[in-house]
Amino acid sequence: MTMTADTGDRLAVTAARSLLARWDRQQEVYIAGREGRFDAMFELVDHGLPGKIRVIDLCCGPGSLSERVLSRFPEAEVLAVDFDPVLMRLGQAALGDGGGRLTWLETDLRLPGWEERIDGPFDAVLTTTALHWFTPPQLTAIYQGLGKLIRPGGFFFNGDHLTERDHQPVSRSLLREAAKRHEERVMSAGAADSWKGWWEAIGTEPALAELLALRNERLERSETLAEVTVAFHEAALRQAGFAEVTRIWQLMDDCVLMAVR
Ligand SMILES: C[S@@+](CC[C@H](N)C(=O)[O-])C[C@H]1O[C@@H](n2cnc3c(N)ncnc32)[C@H](O)[C@@H]1O
Repeated sequence: MTMTADTGDRLAVTAARSLLARWDRQQEVYIAGREGRFDAMFELVDHGLPGKIRVIDLCCGPGSLSERVLSRFPEAEVLAVDFDPVLMRLGQAALGDGGGRLTWLETDLRLPGWEERIDGPFDAVLTTTALHWFTPPQLTAIYQGLGKLIRPGGFFFNGDHLTERDHQPVSRSLLREAAKRHEERVMSAGAADSWKGWWEAIGTEPALAELLALRNERLERSETLAEVTVAFHEAALRQAGFAEVTRIWQLMDDCVLMAVR
């Protein structure tokens, strides 16, 4: 399985763990119910997929979700997939191979046939705060790939600000205001970095300098934020072979969509 490019520099485990903890606090600035969202997914995995499970953490970033799956499901195996070399290096340094249960794969999900690099089948694929990066055709292709990787009866979960595009003007502006106030409250409590502040902290870590340059190159080509509705996700998932698509959790515009293969 392909791992991230080796720059020869080593990121200390303690520094990596601290940056991962800061990543979690930083994400909570923008996602008020982040832990509740993870718990909702895990609760249904727990009930619906008993025994030893194989899971993909899709667009894993530094591995917050992987870390929680490994701890909640002591027999689970996780494949953490992302294209950001900095976040993956950080996750690898902080979480290692999860005692032999965690593998990291660096791949760009915009590439046709991305799923062919992965040996399925998987019982579940979980993703958080990530699929809004993709255009509708890219998302359709990603879901087609997931349809091949997830076994019949397996689950897909997507937790994101999914209903953002569905709101009418009044509710949209109220939800934006609520999100802004949440952000201000968490930031004024002083215990969290902003997105920008967190990346500035990464910029001071010499072991990540080379990978940061590579990340910036990749990011320049991927600044298209998709405008897709929940109905779009549902239709694309059904086309990809998912029989049920259900909202299982919601807080303001933040929602978890579950699909059953
Ligand atoms: C906001 S982060 C969320 C990370 C993690 N899922 C979490 O909840 O903490 C979005 C992630 O999507 C990843 N991503 C964006 N475009 C991607 C692509 N084309 N291929 C693979 N990963 C991608 C980014 O690298 C980043 O790690």
